[in-house]
Amino acid sequence: MQQDVPVKKIVIFASGNGTNAENIIRYFQDHPGVEVTYVFSNKKNAGVLKKAHNLEVKALFFDREAFYKSNEVLHLLIDVQPQLIVLAGFLWKFPENIIKHFEGKIINIHPALLPKYGGKGMYGDYVHRAVVENQEEETGITIHYVNENYDEGAIIFQAKTNIKPGTTPEEVAHSVHELEYKHFPEVIEKLLSP
Ligand code: GAR
Repeated sequence: MQQDVPVKKIVIFASGNGTNAENIIRYFQDHPGVEVTYVFSNKKNAGVLKKAHNLEVKALFFDREAFYKSNEVLHLLIDVQPQLIVLAGFLWKFPENIIKHFEGKIINIHPALLPKYGGKGMYGDYVHRAVVENQEEETGITIHYVNENYDEGAIIFQAKTNIKPGTTPEEVAHSVHELEYKHFPEVIEKLLSP
């Protein structure tokens, strides 16, 4: 007799355009054991909310009060019971109570080779501009667990790309996004596999 295996749930947090969120949603769309259950965003007009809606994933906006004070976001997460909380371009610091409650279940993607180019204010294009200004010969992506400090949790996965002299920050951003699209869903799938 076949037994029903419960579906593993992912909740994505994102603040911006949401191309990674979309890529993850599409990757797991026809996956038998994993679903993206919710997209949460702290920006009312974030592109990610529209993308989630178009892909028929429940999407909701929350404010600072709900995240840091009233525990509304924590309680929603407790109700959903996700196996993994995935930060894909999410720019607010995670509150300690959510981190404690979901210890080892919250991961983030950072568009550089941590510990380089991490920390407060280092996100998105700011990272790529700094990388080019410093004439780095390589950059990449880091997928890591989330702890109380920005970009300091244990590293799960890194991938690199070379930078030729004269490469613009926009070109670096493009290469880094390509790495993100290729690897992020696969790493999530591995973390969720028994
Ligand atoms: C991604 O490149 C992600 O690595 C980065 O924001 C971008 C979001 O793009 N995250 C950070 O910088 C976090 N510090 P997207 O909205 O198109 O997925």
